Amino acid sequence: MAYKIAVYVGSLRQASFSRKTAKALITLAPDSLQLELMDISRLSFYNEDLDESPPEEWVLFRKHLKDCDGLLFVTPEYNRTIPGVLKNALDVGSRPYGESSWDGKPAAVVSVSPSAIGAFGANHHLRQALAYLNIPTMAQPEAYIGHANELFADDGSLIKESTEKFLRDFMDAFANWVARLNGQ
Ligand code: FNR
Repeated sequence: MAYKIAVYVGSLRQASFSRKTAKALITLAPDSLQLELMDISRLSFYNEDLDESPPEEWVLFRKHLKDCDGLLFVTPEYNRTIPGVLKNALDVGSRPYGESSWDGKPAAVVSVSPSAIGAFGANHHLRQALAYLNIPTMAQPEAYIGHANELFADDGSLIKESTEKFLRDFMDAFANWVARLNGQ
């Protein structure tokens, strides 16, 4: 049976390079992973006042998170850190206090940018929060996807064979990480 992996994209933009990268990763993943793109656009801002009677979308988000076997984060960089929409998802999943739905889920991070440094800042800010949330995150290989505006054809397919190989190898390594952390 394949491991269920929830995929979180830190961009809401229709033509997002991060979403294109996430879709490419899903296509290139080995059969041992069953990946699903999650919609975090409708999560209202986390507000502790609502913990006693949380919005329906928070409840569903947390339930889905609890049910999955691993997490894949694909994020752009906004002002050298992660976009607010992704931070909000982390916060919603982390509460109520003592009941974090993220706890112990094996994860991987891919950061994406048209710039040369591949959203390094966002990648490592995200890792800081994931460490605190007790999410064991694959250390190697790292994935800083730079020049993202040059990687995709109009239909979203990857242009370069070297990128395709890199992303396929990354997903193979992630599949091993997920299996290891799930006790295989
Ligand atoms: C950016 N962008 C950007 N890029 C980067 O490499 N480092 C950064 O710090 C920022 N900061 C930033 C802030 C804000 C508010 C926006 C809107 C954009 C550019 C960003 O990488 C570019 O818009 C990407 O295309 C966004 O990712 P998606 O939407 O294509 O996935």
